[in-house]
Amino acid sequence: MFVLMPSLLGKGYSMAENLNLNKARIEEEDEFYTKLTDIEKELRHYKKYFKNKTIFCNCDDPESSNFWKYFELNFEHLGIKKLISTHFETSKPSYKLELVKEKNNDGKVNSLDVVTTPLRQNGDFRSPECIEFLKESDVIVTNPPFSLFREYVAQLIDYQKDFLIIGNQNAITYKEIFPLLRDDKIWLGYHSGDMEFMVPNYYEPRKTRYREENGIKYRSFGNMCWFTNIDIQKRHEDLILYKNFYGNEDDYTQYDNYDAINVNRVNSIPCDYLGVMGVPITFMDKYNPEQFTVIGLIAGNIKGLAGIPTKTGKDGPYINGRLKYGRILIKRKC
Ligand SMILES: C[S@@+](CC[C@H](N)C(=O)[O-])C[C@H]1O[C@@H](n2cnc3c(N)ncnc32)[C@H](O)[C@@H]1O
Repeated sequence: MFVLMPSLLGKGYSMAENLNLNKARIEEEDEFYTKLTDIEKELRHYKKYFKNKTIFCNCDDPESSNFWKYFELNFEHLGIKKLISTHFETSKPSYKLELVKEKNNDGKVNSLDVVTTPLRQNGDFRSPECIEFLKESDVIVTNPPFSLFREYVAQLIDYQKDFLIIGNQNAITYKEIFPLLRDDKIWLGYHSGDMEFMVPNYYEPRKTRYREENGIKYRSFGNMCWFTNIDIQKRHEDLILYKNFYGNEDDYTQYDNYDAINVNRVNSIPCDYLGVMGVPITFMDKYNPEQFTVIGLIAGNIKGLAGIPTKTGKDGPYINGRLKYGRILIKRKC
């Protein structure tokens, strides 16, 4: 069973520090800990990939992170070269853990071979020390802080690192993230939708959707997904299309402001339409770049990402004068 370690609960700080720490964390809603089962469910698809890789979990308290735990337990099975994890402190030096090889002569690589090293800085993924660990790593795997997601991904792209990270599906529409998806530089992993996270006991979620079991609080989110740039079989699989546009034109309204038809559900994408279609954001979960081209994004006031000219100058998808849900603009390739 996952146990929240003292470091996560702020032990070792003065009362005032603790309050500040908790306040900062609560405000940012960043303290959500991933369940081992969710990590296993996704990572089993990448087993071959991890062989001989240096893996860095850079937003993880190695003493409690289930990412660390997964890789430590599977270190030999996956043939991992090196595992690094750094813990983040808001305002004091932190530490890192490393697992490289058998050290204590008991014949296996396990927790007894872990080396703990103090850091000079606070373990911020942007700190020079952590950037050095990033440079020496092949792949970054974690659930980063939600509030820093844009910056976090930008750093991984800057340093040209492979990654597999958890994020909110809303991030698909961020103006910094969408172009990466559109241009096939990143894509979604295998699992998306509902995911439940553990939250620290000090945390009082603002929304009511959480439960408590064995003294641990859980908070559920209905719109989570994995973002990655590791090639996976799923993104080469065609979406099966079985609906027809011709004969059902009334089901596919034209937008007022774009030369494109609106498709309300991903499984209603017609097989006989070769023009531009506006589809729900969740399409990205089914996107195969050999089957479709992603042209752009039309959502609310997000400007400049549509990829085709607007007829009226308005950005979001309008139908009969009314603004509709955000849509991804796509086109069939063949
Ligand atoms: C969403 S939680 C996930 C924790 C862990 N990766 C997991 O999945 O269980 C994000 C973590 O990033 C840490 N964090 C916040 N800001 C950070 C920063 N600038 N650098 C590194 N870690 C940070 C938070 O303290 C938090 O523990």
